[in-house]
Order: sequence, then C-alpha cells, then structure tokens
Amino acid sequence: MGYIISTVNMKGGVGKTTLTVNLATCLAKNHQKKVLVVDLDAQISATLSMMAPQEFAQLRKKRKTISYLIEKHIRPKSRSNLTIEDIICPNICGFSGLELLPGDLELYDEYLVSQTLHQSALDKEIDDFAQVWNQFERLLISSILAPIQDKYDFILLDCAPGYNLLTRSGIAASDYYLLPARPEPLSLVGIQLLERRIAKLKESHLEKDPVNLNLLGIIFILSGGTLIGRYYNQVMRRVKSDFSPEQLFDNSIPMDINVAKAVDSFTPVVLDSPNSAGSKAFVKLTQEFLSKITNR
Ligand SMILES: Nc1ncnc2c1ncn2[C@@H]1O[C@H](COP(=O)(O)OP(=O)(O)O)[C@@H](O)[C@H]1O
Ligand SMILES: [Mg+2]
Repeated sequence: MGYIISTVNMKGGVGKTTLTVNLATCLAKNHQKKVLVVDLDAQISATLSMMAPQEFAQLRKKRKTISYLIEKHIRPKSRSNLTIEDIICPNICGFSGLELLPGDLELYDEYLVSQTLHQSALDKEIDDFAQVWNQFERLLISSILAPIQDKYDFILLDCAPGYNLLTRSGIAASDYYLLPARPEPLSLVGIQLLERRIAKLKESHLEKDPVNLNLLGIIFILSGGTLIGRYYNQVMRRVKSDFSPEQLFDNSIPMDINVAKAVDSFTPVVLDSPNSAGSKAFVKLTQEFLSKITNR
C-alpha cells in the first residue's frame, strides 16, 4: 500500500503547494516512484501548477474533479458512474509515474454535508452528533482513496490553509504529514496550534478507529531580506528545542524567483528550471524525504 502524506500548515502562502508538486515530481522523475497528487484546496494551486487552465476547464465541464467524488459520499444515492480511476489524470508533465486528482473551485456544499449527517444521526438514533461528524470526517478522504491506494508508492495531499473538513479528513487519512514553514516567530505559533489540533483529532478517533499519523518533518522555506537571518536563528533555536531532530528536515528551500515563475508555465520548477537553486534544493529534499520514510 502506498503512503498517504499530507502537506499542512494553518497558514497560507508558506509553500505547501510548491513543496507538494515538486516533491511529487522529483519522486517520479528521479526515483521512478509512482505518485499521485491530490488537490484538496479550492484555490486549485496544485492543479494549476501541473496542468494548464484550459485543460482544467475541460475536465471540470466533464465533472472530472475531486468534487464529484466528494459529492458521491455526501449524496450516496446520486446517479453517478465516474470512478476515481476515470478522474485521475495520468502522465502529468509527460511522466508516466506522475498523476493528479484535480481539485475544484467548489469542493463541497457545507449545508448539504450538515443536512446529510444530521439525517443520518436521526436515522441511526444517535444523540451524539459529534460522533457522526467524526466518523464522516475520518472516512471521507480515506474511502475516496481506498480503491487506488495500492497502485501508488506515494499519495501526496495538498491541503488548504486553515482547518476545514477536507484538511482534517486528509490528515486523518494520512500516514505522515509534512509541515512547511517560514522561519518567522509567528509561524512557530502556527506550528504549535496545528500540533495541538492534530493531537485532538487523534484523540477524537482513539477508541473506534485510531488515526496512525506522524509528523515526518518540518521543512523551512527560507525568506529573503536582511533582518531574516536573526529571526531565522531565533526561530530555529525554538523549533529545535520543541521538536526532536528526526522531526526536522536538514534541507531547507531557499527563496528563488524561478520557483515563483514556474507557476506561469503550469510546470513544477524542478522541470521548468532544473538548474535553479530552488530546483536543486527540492532534489536534495526529496532524497532526505525518502531516507526519513525508510528510517521510520
Ligand atoms: N522557494 C520559493 N521561492 C520563491 N517563491 C516561492 C517559493 N515557494 C513558494 N513560492 C511562491 O509563494 C507563493 C505561495 O506558495 P504556495 O506553495 O502556493 O503556498 P501555500 O500552498 O502554502 O499557500 C506562490 O506564489 C509560490 O510560487
Ligand atoms: Mg496551497
């Protein structure tokens, strides 16, 4: 069975998506792994980092996005016949090992979720609504992925910032999570908050259906600027005292304009500009990623 790994941080703009798509590409290109990227963010940045908007528009017209699979879980009686295999796009950027489950601008209807779960609590005569909700959250993403999980070495979930239903469900489905962070004092607060929320999520599923989830590592995405060096060291010291060495990546990702520019060509930077500093950092980070997975 493939590993399911989510990329999470409550903050937006810290480099989650960039990390996800470049790690996935390096795993497929340099290590011949079979990798699926799943876009769980309504901003569809992962999708548009790997596919042109015109192509995405065509898929969306045919309802070939993750929304359709989520809807099948919310509305099991809907007359739908597409499977996850029909929706996954193979051969992303020309690599046979790289595949994408495209995201959508509208991922799910919150009202419908609440209505369905409320009805289900009534039908099953369960008083504790939280129990019904937790069970749904626990199984949503993992049951969407279950039919194809053994076809991949790695399934990387690109989560939205914040802590919405899909982020929680993606985390609950994962074996590991990656935490990209900027080395700024405030981002430390974000890391601690996320750790606390994940501990709570594990707790809420402890008895019935334990979540076997671990932090694979914090990855620093370095910022530029003159004051940053001092802040960086201060934050690094704090992080090192809060986490064990195996919970931190030795490699970090530098700020590199080529990384940002690659988005314009709908191609990860490791393909768009392979000799750039950013690309080289992602290549090394991928090696460290694989050795961390092996050591666990
Ligand atoms: N190492 C980097 N160097 C330069 N720009 C980067 C780097 N990493 C991310 N970016 C840019 O920063 C922005 C936010 O990154 P993104 O990966 O979308 O963050 P998130 O998914 O956490 O919201 C994007 O415009 C992206 O191109
Ligand atoms: Mg993102």
